[in-house]
Amino acid sequence: MRAVLVANIKGGCGKTTIATHLAAAYARSGHPTVLADVDRQRSSLGWLERRPASAAPLAGIDWSREFDEPPRGTRRLVIDAPAALKAKQIEELVRMADIVVLPVLPGAFDEQATQRFLKKLEELKPIARNKKAVAVVGNRMKARTKASERLDAFLGGLGHAVVARLRDSQIYADTAAAGLSLFDLTGKRAAEHRGDWDALLTYIDENV
Ligand SMILES: Nc1ncnc2c1ncn2[C@@H]1O[C@H](COP(=O)(O)OP(=O)(O)O)[C@@H](O)[C@H]1O
Ligand SMILES: [Mg+2]
Repeated sequence: MRAVLVANIKGGCGKTTIATHLAAAYARSGHPTVLADVDRQRSSLGWLERRPASAAPLAGIDWSREFDEPPRGTRRLVIDAPAALKAKQIEELVRMADIVVLPVLPGAFDEQATQRFLKKLEELKPIARNKKAVAVVGNRMKARTKASERLDAFLGGLGHAVVARLRDSQIYADTAAAGLSLFDLTGKRAAEHRGDWDALLTYIDENV
């Protein structure tokens, strides 16, 4: 089983969007996939409840109280973390994960929070010893803006490259409301935005 943890202490940076998309992408590829929702707000589990029966099947587990064993036969586990996490919980989730995906929005406040979170992550042994990778994803990016250049410079300064960039698009709110993801849609617009995910999916495959 491969486990991907999606986390950042910043709220609204795209954790649930990325967790639901990764889970849907794996389900679509035919891997038995489980989405573990650590957030008491149950955004991922709510999305799963809205998910139409026609979409690639996905199971959900509630990890808001404790981190249970995923069901037998699970091949891909995607963990959607809340913004508020205790140091102990971060440590435990990182221990269970093979890789950490860290979404970050461009902007000074988000950068500060991300810097703090990255520092905490880097104090953990598997990350400090490069046993587990951290994939930074720039979310809600607008091409060639000052903000996106700033984000590159900022992350570069912290020793991290941006692995993938997801554009800002209404398509994310629309798919979320329908229990879907870009990986469940046909059509040109979805296909075009789906391309934004290639680099992240490849990076995860190569680093777990
Ligand atoms: N790339 C994007 N473009 C447009 N809206 C986005 C994008 N990513 C996330 N959103 C929207 O931003 C809001 C917060 O995203 P969410 O994934 O719930 O963040 P988190 O789980 O980190 O709190 C949601 O309304 C979501 O639809
Ligand atoms: Mg969330």
